[in-house]
Amino acid sequence: MSHPGQPGDAAQALELEVITSTEIADPVRELILRPVNAAALPAFGAGAHLRFLVADGRWNAYSLIALPGDDGRSYRIAVRREDGGAGGSLAMHGLRTGDRIVAQPPRNDFPLDAGTGPALLLAGGIGLTPLISMATALAERGRPFRLVMAARTRAAAAYADLLGDTFGEGISLHLDDLVGGPMPVTDLIADAAPDTHVYVCGPRPMIEAARTAWATRALPDAQFHTELFDAPQPEAGDQPFEVELASTGQIFIVPPGQTIIQVLEAGGVDLVYDCQRGDCGICQTGVLEGTPDHRDVVLSPAERAAGKLIHICVSRAKSARLKLDL
Ligand code: FES
Repeated sequence: MSHPGQPGDAAQALELEVITSTEIADPVRELILRPVNAAALPAFGAGAHLRFLVADGRWNAYSLIALPGDDGRSYRIAVRREDGGAGGSLAMHGLRTGDRIVAQPPRNDFPLDAGTGPALLLAGGIGLTPLISMATALAERGRPFRLVMAARTRAAAAYADLLGDTFGEGISLHLDDLVGGPMPVTDLIADAAPDTHVYVCGPRPMIEAARTAWATRALPDAQFHTELFDAPQPEAGDQPFEVELASTGQIFIVPPGQTIIQVLEAGGVDLVYDCQRGDCGICQTGVLEGTPDHRDVVLSPAERAAGKLIHICVSRAKSARLKLDL
């Protein structure tokens, strides 16, 4: 996972040293990190991530991977190289043994439920990483689970052999090129027992398919958990639109390729946000006039249809102007 965010409390920052850097799949590199000062590392729960300072003022987050038998003296992450990205993943791929990097303490926006029932873990690509930690925690708690991991090809399937050896029949590998299509998320969710907690981590189309499948089951939303593993991409046909702030009447123009947050911040507006991927919900804002073009994975189908809320980190407008409750 790679997303820029706010840096947090620099006083709590961890200085970490790279112990190993290993190419484990195409194009995924695993990093093992330890504290420079030999202090104890902050513990983390399944689903947690670390934010790394990848460039001046820019932080990328990567999920922490826990495997059975880990001693808690190091952190393990896996980074997919994004050749068309902002450069953070390339910086991480460039790290070698002995290099140092600053990180914020672990944070968890995707925690495992505390129940005792079964869990279905659906992983798309490098979205696998937090779900490995969940599989480890579920196994330790004696809870039944199934982890279905999808990759484009066998060469891209990071950790497939390790997970198969570790968790046996609990792991299923879906290869798009062999099967001729994406993971059958709808069927997997349709077959899940009614008390199953479902965890989905992957690209936006996968999460949207899972969310639709879950809605047709009419089971509690509290049993459905997602985390997005995709940076927002401009879409063909994106048009400029205006944003009006209700509090001041100011009007801003949001061009294609820029987000509402980027435009408002450049105009001096103070905003609260975090993931900038339409995933965490923190930037949710009221819509007073106009029609949003929703690109988040937070809102329910009913909330999308109502058009009264927008996530200004990713979503745009179908109307020429949006009047926002800001
Ligand atoms: S900042 Fe996370 S949804 Fe917008």
